[in-house]
Amino acid sequence: MSSTKQIMEALEWRYATKRYDATKKISESDWKTLTNSLLMAPSSYGVQPWKFLIVENPQVREQLKAVSWNQTQVTDASHYVVFAYKEEMDEAFIQKYVDRISEVRKVNPESLNGYKAMMIENLAKAPGEKIKVWSQRQAYIAMGFLLETAALLKIDATPMEGLDPASYDKILGLEGSGYKTVATVALGYRHAEDTFQNMQKVRFAEDSVIEYVK
Ligand SMILES: Cc1cc2nc3c(=O)[nH]c(=O)nc-3n(C[C@H](O)[C@H](O)[C@H](O)COP(=O)(O)O)c2cc1C
Repeated sequence: MSSTKQIMEALEWRYATKRYDATKKISESDWKTLTNSLLMAPSSYGVQPWKFLIVENPQVREQLKAVSWNQTQVTDASHYVVFAYKEEMDEAFIQKYVDRISEVRKVNPESLNGYKAMMIENLAKAPGEKIKVWSQRQAYIAMGFLLETAALLKIDATPMEGLDPASYDKILGLEGSGYKTVATVALGYRHAEDTFQNMQKVRFAEDSVIEYVK
């Protein structure tokens, strides 16, 4: 179990790594913990409108780097995760989710009819643009879980939006799949010469961001 001290230290220790040591790889057991943090992330209705693509192929990573402002994290990090969000919420997907609840919790699917109707009303019938934004928000929750878990494991990470999502979709064959790239996270171990690791964290003062409504 992480103690308060460990959590505080991990939050201070982590930083958006700019340069990775390409020779250092995340162990299989740590990787399992990291992917589990993605699977365990909460989402609205629990519907999980996302996919996480782990790009292992070095040539593909080179192509992605070229459309990511040439950021070296794309190729040098041990692992590279692309966060894709589901563009549309249709009844078929909601049914798939309902079937999964019924399977995991061993309940009669009919007992979920009310919940299903609510999801159809609020998601499947919602305007497309609204769902796109909503879906992307869910993906960022998973990103947060991954970043925090990495920090607790003392694994470096970089959340990344400095990239062209449409080019990612093309390179990764996502076009027509119903999923689109929204952001990425590089993970691995910092290069000893990454000067960013020594920089002071810049955050607004607590009282300007956190307000207690009494
Ligand atoms: C959604 C998101 C996108 C980001 N995109 C990039 C990026 O493309 N490249 C990069 O080097 N850092 C990127 N960052 C890192 C931020 O600049 C960094 O988190 C912020 O300056 C705070 O610093 P810290 O994370 O080191 O504490 C991104 C961060 C977030 C949350």
